[in-house]
Amino acid sequence: MELADFAISRLGNASLPSPLVNHVFVDDDARVCYDTDAETVARYIKEGKPIPSFERAGARAKIFHDPAWSKAAILTAGGLCPGLNEVVKFLTLTLMNRYKVPVVYGIQYGYKGLNPVNRLSPIMLTPEMVDAIHEQGGTILGSSRGEEDTGIIVDTLARMNINMLFCIGGDGTSRGAHDIAMEIKRRGLAISVIAIPKTIDNDISFIDKSFGFSSAVLAAGPVVTCAHTEAKGAYNGVGLIKVMGRDSGFIAAYTTLSNPFVNYCLVPERPFTLDGDSETALLPHLVKRLEAKHHAVILVAEGAGQDLFASQSNQRDASGNKLHQDIGLLLKDEITKYCKKHNVPLTLKYFDPGYTIRSVKAEGEDAVFCSMLANGAAHAAMSGRTDMMIGHWSGAFTHVPIALATSARKKLDLGSPLWSTVRDMTVF
Ligand code: F6P
Repeated sequence: MELADFAISRLGNASLPSPLVNHVFVDDDARVCYDTDAETVARYIKEGKPIPSFERAGARAKIFHDPAWSKAAILTAGGLCPGLNEVVKFLTLTLMNRYKVPVVYGIQYGYKGLNPVNRLSPIMLTPEMVDAIHEQGGTILGSSRGEEDTGIIVDTLARMNINMLFCIGGDGTSRGAHDIAMEIKRRGLAISVIAIPKTIDNDISFIDKSFGFSSAVLAAGPVVTCAHTEAKGAYNGVGLIKVMGRDSGFIAAYTTLSNPFVNYCLVPERPFTLDGDSETALLPHLVKRLEAKHHAVILVAEGAGQDLFASQSNQRDASGNKLHQDIGLLLKDEITKYCKKHNVPLTLKYFDPGYTIRSVKAEGEDAVFCSMLANGAAHAAMSGRTDMMIGHWSGAFTHVPIALATSARKKLDLGSPLWSTVRDMTVF
């Protein structure tokens, strides 16, 4: 990585004094190292190269946008995720209570709300209006998938004199935010575009976690307990659970470790076969386990084992993501057939808590994380940063160029301590 990859765009010189009183400001040049191992940092120093690093997030003493003349807009896009309302609430509070921004619009149904053809009027957000929204899962603004014309979106922002746009979403939403920022730049407008990383899949690169992920893991825990109870309650009982995780197995891996009743954790990053002699053949392994223990809990991420389907699908969702075939149902059928063929008694109970774990509200530290991300996003926008995502890296809040964050999907590293711990806690 080069230092230039981490450069954050600014709309112009921040020359206005911040209205925040008694605030600890972050130095404009403060940075957070990308590489956390001492050897790599020492090598950069020895070679005289700049150390790749993120801008540190936080309030600046000098800001770009004049709060009294500002109009902010917030939208939520993509699939639901715990914490959306927390982020909407804390953005509104920081902008209105702290900076005294007079107008904060809630844009309805993601980017759709910025295209007049959809006839969706904005919601006027106020501290009173957002007071209790953190108690609800989902998003009070509504969300949607799919693209809207970037030029029309920027026309709307310009027509409404909006000078700060906050896009809360995953990588599709963030790519959309990047296109908007590019169009704004092409037109020479002074509108900050800030992305806030939401996804229960935790698959955004260059941030150590997205908000909503840990609440989804927490919500998956009781389902594992139920699957285990059902599995133990029958002779050769199998509790089979499918969780989300389109291309990355973080929810499955974390759920396995947070409630280690799971015996088999199947993720997209680790291929496996159904039958055969290899150590990655699931069905013979499962039968041996049933013969020895008479129960098993299997947790599969939706993107796992896609190569096991006879024909491959090319279907995509409105965000352009590949739609996966149902690995949970395939495993249910294949386990049943295999046990029948080998005269192995089986009682299989199938659980699909997909939407149940993402429609809950954010809990505990995740809620704190939402509030701090929102706060950092508001400070970044006020300082005139744009085309960036508010992030988190080795204990610090950071600014990440959207192009960098969306350059690749984050995947489970099968050589990481996380995955070795999963392997140590499971049997396959
Ligand atoms: O947000 C990502 C995700 O949770 C994926 O794991 C899953 O494939 C997708 O959302 C499903 O969302 P929807 O059914 O709303 O399109």
